[in-house]
Amino acid sequence: MSATDGKSVILGVESSCDDTAAAVVDRNGRVLSSVVVGQTEVHAAHGGVFPEMASRAHVAAVIPCLAKALADAGVTPQDLRAIGVTRGPGLVGPLLVGLNAAAGAGLGWGVPVIGVNHLRGHLRSADLEQARVRFPALLLLVSGGHTLLAHMSAPGDIRIIGGTRDDSVGEAYDKVGRLMGLGYPAGAKVDQLAKAGDASRIRFPRPLIAEGLDFSFSGLKSAVARMFPLDGSVGEADIAAAFVDACMDVLVQKSRRALLAHPSRSFVVVGGVAASPQLRAAAGSLCAELGVELCLPPLRWSTDNAAMIALAAWDYLDLAAPPRAVVQPNLRVDQW
Ligand code: KG4
Ligand code: ZN
Repeated sequence: MSATDGKSVILGVESSCDDTAAAVVDRNGRVLSSVVVGQTEVHAAHGGVFPEMASRAHVAAVIPCLAKALADAGVTPQDLRAIGVTRGPGLVGPLLVGLNAAAGAGLGWGVPVIGVNHLRGHLRSADLEQARVRFPALLLLVSGGHTLLAHMSAPGDIRIIGGTRDDSVGEAYDKVGRLMGLGYPAGAKVDQLAKAGDASRIRFPRPLIAEGLDFSFSGLKSAVARMFPLDGSVGEADIAAAFVDACMDVLVQKSRRALLAHPSRSFVVVGGVAASPQLRAAAGSLCAELGVELCLPPLRWSTDNAAMIALAAWDYLDLAAPPRAVVQPNLRVDQW
């Protein structure tokens, strides 16, 4: 017997960077299964993602990943309303692997394939398991590839109001982690190390903090790099603490400015860096101060996964003119 009645679930597929993922999700964001196959060992020696090796690892993982997601959910291809697959933004090779696997499966099973914007996936991660977001809403998207603020007056209406002029905050975390030999990705380890340090021992720059809604993290990244090799006056934990402090200061100041300029019911914080306990706490304090509701995805849906892609795919079913399911490596959050 099937765990669903009729075509009531979508199979999500994600392969935009270094995680191969598949998940089965219903229209209300209930997650029936989620499989994520990481590539940490593949890229460990490079201190970042090596695109060609990522593509090969996706090729090996993607079909077993889809099969396991269906089996874990207790559904068959006949139960699928659609397959939703990430079409961008991301690395072109990895994206092509996921999209072609989804296209082949869709053709074989007679199931429609929807090309999904990864950033809309992150946005929708805040409604997985439970609908949280209410409108108007302010979005802070902080990941390895992106750092942006957007205002949403209604679900489909996204207006970008701030972006990064250089690096993303996730990239800065990963660079600091690399300097400290913490491996890749290093976000969670930098946060952990920061908890043991004293942030007041060093003051790193807060680029662009006093003006506007755009971000810049390359100067902060370089300021941390200039501390190395260490001269013994401060330890790595203090550096991590001061770095995280500077990141939080910038993210909170910009978000406060955006919330004051664009009154919102919900403040939605998503993307890999939304897994940071320091950011979760800082966003919580800001929302308490301004009387706004904080919407965070459950921790496991902050970093890349396919459940968020599947939930986002449901939105595309309502579009009069959905985009073609083709790879588009440079999609913005306000595009489909
Ligand atoms: O959203 P994501 O999984 O992939 C992209 O779409 O980019 O984000 C990955 C980024 C990496 O830079 C990683 O270091 C960072 O999210 N990250 C964190 C934490 N967990 C992951 N950054 C800070 N604190 C964390 N706990
Ligand atoms: Zn992502």
